[in-house]
Amino acid sequence: MSEKPMLGVIPLTFVNPARLPTYETAAPARDSFGRRIDYLRVSLTDRCNMRCVYCMPAVGMQFAPRPELLTNEELLLVLRAAAKAGFRKIRLTGGEPTLRQDLVELIRQIKAIPGIEHIAMTTNALRLRKLAGPLKEAGLDRVNISIDSLDPVKFRQMTRGGNLDEVWAGIEAANEVGLTPIKLNAVVVRGMNDDEVVQLAALTIERKWEFRFIEVMPLTGVAGLANEGVISSAELIERLEAAYGTLEPLGQADSDPARRYRIPGAKGKLGFISSVTDPFCATCNRMRLTADGRLHLCLLRDDELDLRAAIRNGATLDEVEQLVRHAVYIKPWGHGLPEGVLPTLRGMSQLGG
Ligand code: 5AD
Ligand code: SF4
Repeated sequence: MSEKPMLGVIPLTFVNPARLPTYETAAPARDSFGRRIDYLRVSLTDRCNMRCVYCMPAVGMQFAPRPELLTNEELLLVLRAAAKAGFRKIRLTGGEPTLRQDLVELIRQIKAIPGIEHIAMTTNALRLRKLAGPLKEAGLDRVNISIDSLDPVKFRQMTRGGNLDEVWAGIEAANEVGLTPIKLNAVVVRGMNDDEVVQLAALTIERKWEFRFIEVMPLTGVAGLANEGVISSAELIERLEAAYGTLEPLGQADSDPARRYRIPGAKGKLGFISSVTDPFCATCNRMRLTADGRLHLCLLRDDELDLRAAIRNGATLDEVEQLVRHAVYIKPWGHGLPEGVLPTLRGMSQLGG
């Protein structure tokens, strides 16, 4: 990662479309380092029905007022422009994406956009028991579900109020309707759920699920926790190997940040996302869209490009496509954690992981 030069970091909030370079529209967008960026993570809301300790502070969260969020119509314009610029995969995130009104209808409309090949969603599953069927029917392909503990009391503590039974019901519902392959995510925090990694990994022995362990990242609101709480994937692997024997390394899928393994003989897989100790910026293929309409260029930096302002000033589909291509072009090489550069303007709950 550090072999490439860093771009100067200028948090962008507004780009005048009249003064942009003109980007060629025949080929899919690439950034200035040649990376093909075709995966957009779309935050549908910054609100959530949980308050996970690694994501939000317990009190004092301020949420964006409704008029600041992109309307469905504005969002669909952005996604059409992104598809024209070469984006192929969409992931719906939040906050908690199932809190978005008209989610089912929105997915149906996203699915109809030419060029969008795959729609996934990252959810806490609290509302999935009822929604899984309609979401699948509308065109959602698969889900990632957060589950940090198998102990209902600890789960309630870590999520500040989450009901583990409801989450399980959601996971089962997703499984039944075929929102598969299901991936389960745990953010591992030292002193909270790190004593459970062996049991969490055991979920993959009988089921064809992928269980992914994520290093806690130091975003706004939880930076202190991340310093003391971060536990490296290398340490987790050591602990799992003490319990299960040597894990079998599996090939890493292109641009998948997870390094994948299998417990010997297991039906499912394990994944380790080592954003802090072993960044994967070199193969980054993604950008984020915040619920208030900014393209957020790198998870762990503040740089953004404001699409909402352009759209509310009347930008056309082709103009929005040019802005998306510009955002891709100026995407920074990678995050600055090793140099101590931390993002300060947004928390994880606004960026959707
Ligand atoms: N570090 C790493 N991952 C996080 N998530 C939320 N906060 C953090 C953090 N500080 C991830 C969770 C969840 C998704 C929405 O974001 O895994 O699944
Ligand atoms: Fe909500 Fe997900 Fe953040 Fe937990 S991690 S508070 S479920 S957005």
